[in-house]
Amino acid sequence: MPLRDALGNVEPYRPQPPMRVLAERAGLERMVKLASNEGAFGPLPAAVAAYEAAASELHRYPDGGAASLRAALGERYGLPPEQVVPGNGADELIRLCAAAALDAGDAAVFPWPSFASYVSAAGVHGADAVRVPLRDRAFDLGGVLEACSAPAPGGGRVRLVYLANPNNPTGTILDPAQLRGFLDALPAGILCVLDEAYAEYADVEPEGPALLREGREALCVLRTFSKVYGLAALRIGYALASPAVAGALDRVRPIFNANQPAQEAALAALGEADEVARRVGHAHGARERLREVLAAAGLDPLPSQTNFVYADVPGGRADALAEGLLAEGLIVRALRGFGAPGAIRVTCGTDEENSAFAEALARVMARDV
Ligand SMILES: Cc1ncc(COP(=O)(O)O)c(C=O)c1O
Repeated sequence: MPLRDALGNVEPYRPQPPMRVLAERAGLERMVKLASNEGAFGPLPAAVAAYEAAASELHRYPDGGAASLRAALGERYGLPPEQVVPGNGADELIRLCAAAALDAGDAAVFPWPSFASYVSAAGVHGADAVRVPLRDRAFDLGGVLEACSAPAPGGGRVRLVYLANPNNPTGTILDPAQLRGFLDALPAGILCVLDEAYAEYADVEPEGPALLREGREALCVLRTFSKVYGLAALRIGYALASPAVAGALDRVRPIFNANQPAQEAALAALGEADEVARRVGHAHGARERLREVLAAAGLDPLPSQTNFVYADVPGGRADALAEGLLAEGLIVRALRGFGAPGAIRVTCGTDEENSAFAEALARVMARDV
């Protein structure tokens, strides 16, 4: 077959069955999904109105330059629009960063457990994914720097670092001074991607945009409308990057990667600051409560700077716990695929969903885990 050898090393994404199928299997009317870190409250009404208004123009190609969205985001972050690059979700931009930085034989370095897309992004380019284990459930930036200075296993060069800040699945955030020290020490010729998909939920906004305003060169910051803005299905995210990196992303991205209804809905969502703040406030309360519930049930949760909570399961029985919860109608993420086979991650839902989780967790833990 005329397919690239590198693809042999790439695991295909294994989607979960649709909610309807899971509900049927469990013999339940409905399932509560707390597994994908979506916002708990649905799309913002202004975004829905903009999306519906865009329907009459569906026969037109999107604005490939995403001019209005770039201008609005540029203004928000104090950066020129050219330093904003739209993406089909932040996930696509993770891939585009790899396409811009990696040749076959090169390597991407990142802490692990972290977001699994970094692994496949490197793999599809024939590059190695060098995973640096967490230390005490936190990033080992010294270890990441060491890996960046070591030879790439494939004979090329280390060219890319992904740092999810806050991290998925652990929900932890880097101390800003530590991050600056890391960037200062990073060897030249390595692009650092700060994946800030959960930025809005952090107690203090992570510093990616500020670092770019200072003129740092080998830097790309990723954000998304999938989480607190409630637009996960539309697939819209963006990169903020130095002029050189943004220019490279514009060269590798498909011109119509951000569809028009997504651009319009995202623009409208940006204007809903009060409701976004309310939702962030809700997530702050919910993650604290979730942490208490998990600890009370005997798990070992981490404090979170996101809209989800990571917890180690006693005896490492995360798969069994997730299965038990599934049978009760609760979908949470068992973290084997993230490199943490003994842990689960629970997304903050609505109050009702969170209470349903707490009750189901107590039942399952009492029974068999
Ligand atoms: C750390 C991280 N980066 C990127 C993404 C992808 O976000 P998007 O929906 O914008 O593709 C996610 C989604 O879960 C994530 O957790």
